[in-house]
Amino acid sequence: MTADDKLREFQTHLGQSLQDQSFIKLTLGHYTGEEADLKSIQVRRIVIKREEKLSFTYRYKTRDIVKNYGAEEAVARIADSLRFGFHAATLFTTAFDLVFDDNKGKQTLKQNPATQAAPATLDHDRAKTRLVAAKGQSWLHDLKITDDKGAVLKASQDKYRQINKYVEILDGLIKSLPEKPGMKIVDMGSGKGYLTFALYDHLTNTLKRDVAVEGVEFRPDMVALCNDIAKKSDFPGLRFVEGTIENYDSKGADILIALHACDTATDDAIAKGITAGAELIVVAPCCHKQIRREIEKSRRHNDLGFLMEHGIFIERQAEMVTDGLRALILEYFGYSTKVFEFISDVHTPKNAMIVGVRNAKAALKDPKILAKINDAKNYFGIVRHHLEDKTGL
Ligand SMILES: C[S@@+](CC[C@H](N)C(=O)[O-])C[C@H]1O[C@@H](n2cnc3c(N)ncnc32)[C@H](O)[C@@H]1O
Repeated sequence: MTADDKLREFQTHLGQSLQDQSFIKLTLGHYTGEEADLKSIQVRRIVIKREEKLSFTYRYKTRDIVKNYGAEEAVARIADSLRFGFHAATLFTTAFDLVFDDNKGKQTLKQNPATQAAPATLDHDRAKTRLVAAKGQSWLHDLKITDDKGAVLKASQDKYRQINKYVEILDGLIKSLPEKPGMKIVDMGSGKGYLTFALYDHLTNTLKRDVAVEGVEFRPDMVALCNDIAKKSDFPGLRFVEGTIENYDSKGADILIALHACDTATDDAIAKGITAGAELIVVAPCCHKQIRREIEKSRRHNDLGFLMEHGIFIERQAEMVTDGLRALILEYFGYSTKVFEFISDVHTPKNAMIVGVRNAKAALKDPKILAKINDAKNYFGIVRHHLEDKTGL
């Protein structure tokens, strides 16, 4: 058997193990090639967007680089690596380990008993353990996020990702608050209730917290649907009430949430949270028409006037100014605030989140914050921000 035959045999075993699913992993070592600081390559199987790939981790002295390839390209790259620079490879399969070694031109191929019998996990999302498990959740199926086997439907992938991201953020925020039995959480403009269900399920069934979650929604069909699913899911502390955010009595709310409540409905929700003295207010605004109208009406001559020539920039300016003022108004009422992108804009353009955490140590109604609010309004030619009216500012 020539050296090349040995390499070819190694390659054949590799190809077969990928075909019959016995492949576990592969390592390449003893590198003497030209790439500075490259030490080894580790190869494992993964699934990305339902497609099987081989993930190569190139280990350098001080960093790792990961690249994913389809099976055919991966096999060719492994063979090339063994011709140019790497002198050792071990193929781990469920049946055996196959060790290829090139020691100063003397090549050997040795089959050893398998060190790992279990097939490799294909889950690329291994690192991303989802807080909201897709399987075994009847409410996810009833809300048409998963099929009857618990697999996330293709059309609902973004929604599922958003639900998880949102629960992940709230999980951290809620854990940072003092624990209070019977904590009341209100979700304003709850719509079809995806996020309301996810939060309730996570808090009660995973974190074993005693909470009451209420969704507020003016569409009766949504309220009826959500109440039916809550009953079917045996979620006694979750209910949905029909009504407007403006007319909702928020007294006793510890946490107030509003996700994509349209335009000034977000302001109404924030105001309800401030009035209730909620510990936590979390909003993801959507459409910023009120402030856009104010900015466009006044066409205030400021340094940013050149941006007013383009609709898209007016839109973006309105978003930032609306939400920036919301954060300032929250601070004025004693909340520490953070504004951040809560999910990539690949999934939704409505991806800014404002979080207000009540800060007992913060100065209430600080005149310096009020001056900042007024300066900002003057600069952009804003007469009133809806949240000012709602909070009596
Ligand atoms: C874009 S949907 C978002 C639904 C849900 N929060 C989510 O993120 O999946 C906004 C929902 O808020 C409701 N809504 C908007 N303004 C409202 C108001 N002033 N009072 C009650 N519900 C409102 C709408 O009917 C709609 O169902």
